[in-house]
Amino acid sequence: MSFFNDPALDALLARLHGQSTAQSKETAAYFGARGRERQPIAADDADKRNFMSDKLVALDADKARFCYQLCRAMNAHRAIEAGTSYGVSTLYLAAALRENARAQPGKYIVIGTEYEPRKAAAARKHFEEAGLAGFVDLREGDLLETLVDVGSPVDFMLIDIWTRMARPAIELVAPCLRTGAVVICDNTQTYRAEYEDYFAFITDPSNGFSTMTLPFAGGLEMSVRG
Ligand SMILES: C[S@@+](CC[C@H](N)C(=O)[O-])C[C@H]1O[C@@H](n2cnc3c(N)ncnc32)[C@H](O)[C@@H]1O
Repeated sequence: MSFFNDPALDALLARLHGQSTAQSKETAAYFGARGRERQPIAADDADKRNFMSDKLVALDADKARFCYQLCRAMNAHRAIEAGTSYGVSTLYLAAALRENARAQPGKYIVIGTEYEPRKAAAARKHFEEAGLAGFVDLREGDLLETLVDVGSPVDFMLIDIWTRMARPAIELVAPCLRTGAVVICDNTQTYRAEYEDYFAFITDPSNGFSTMTLPFAGGLEMSVRG
């Protein structure tokens, strides 16, 4: 069954999700070995960066579809994505914004960010292939620099990044989130301890979020800006 009513996009995503799944055994083995060597999962050292530099680690399809549905339901115009990789989740967000634009013309953009040049280049090819490049502003580099100026108002944010970068990402974008904006963060149940500083931020009453962990695999945090 076609999710997007766009067979080419369905086929591209099926291919990319397949590639990501095919790499997951190798990735699990790598982190298993690091765990035995007592290296924290959240560490971002050169060996991990080198190993992960060609891994898709794409957002699971059901979570990505949920993000698509949210962006449609909210009529999102400006969506931010921390962690683009080969562009899988970006394609879902951009497809949602394209539908929003068809329903109501205007300015719609997904701002993504990726610091691995090879991944960014591959992502750009995928956006072109899907005819969605016009809905994506991919900012290449470290999110500490690329997400400094994302513009306002932001309707939706996806945080699908190494855990230690989640808090800096939300801190940078929070001032631009509109009332009612949704922030999704992946794997917050599996990596609850590693996300401690992120939870400290979104549960701090002065930051104005309500939050709940949705029962997707590994936990998917959905926070709403009050
Ligand atoms: C889990 S993957 C993103 C998967 C993507 N959302 C998808 O569904 O295809 C996280 C990505 O964030 C990138 N990344 C990690 N730290 C970063 C940083 N500080 N700035 C920019 N990108 C970063 C990694 O290279 C990796 O490709």
